[in-house]
Amino acid sequence: MVTLRKFLSREHLFDAAEAMVRHVVGAGGSRPFAILLSGGETPRPLYSRLAEHPFAAPSALRLIPADERMVPDTDVNSNLRQIRAVAAAVAMGRPQVLQVDTSRPLEAAALDYEAQLHRFLAEGVIELGFLGLGADGHTASLFTPADVRSSRGRLAVGVRRESGYDRVTVTADLLAMVRRLVVLVVGPEKRQAVLSLEVQPDTTAAGVLLDGHARAEVWFAPD
Ligand code: 6PG
Repeated sequence: MVTLRKFLSREHLFDAAEAMVRHVVGAGGSRPFAILLSGGETPRPLYSRLAEHPFAAPSALRLIPADERMVPDTDVNSNLRQIRAVAAAVAMGRPQVLQVDTSRPLEAAALDYEAQLHRFLAEGVIELGFLGLGADGHTASLFTPADVRSSRGRLAVGVRRESGYDRVTVTADLLAMVRRLVVLVVGPEKRQAVLSLEVQPDTTAAGVLLDGHARAEVWFAPD
């Protein structure tokens, strides 16, 4: 069962998330280590805090986008764009941020991203990951329980969308390797999605994924 941690306010939640990033960065050694970051609205206050009070980024640190819309990195919908802003603020070089090559066709982009992840994991560890949660129970770009199951055996897959942009996303197998995985959730409109993680985990992508994860937590600030 997933561990749920409730916060009195968003500020408390982001205080804890920021402290966790700073701790992980400070504890890093010379072995490559990574923090996986989601897109979406929810983590923006965390990214702003990190950019406003930058830490000294070690050369062993990598940032890994959890998923990407198939748009150029200049597009306002690009997760890479958001994550690169954090990387630039802490003076990380471009090679320190993994990126989905959205100029390729969807499946080729997914395979290329998977190869980047394999190369990183051959020598490094993903110490920390932050995901978001959709009101419909999706996480990263895994939208249904079937998406989670059909991605087994892969580290990244392409997801075609009937409406909206096609996506490349990391999978449950990749997320299982994240040493500490935290799903950040804020707002009353997400209350039902959080509840269903506990009572009906098999009905949503996030429920299926987190139910089988050894070290995942959901941090929820309802107000
Ligand atoms: C994205 C993520 C997605 C997101 C949820 C929650 O890039 O948008 O793939 O999984 O984390 O949709 O989105 P909000 O944080 O915007 O509510």
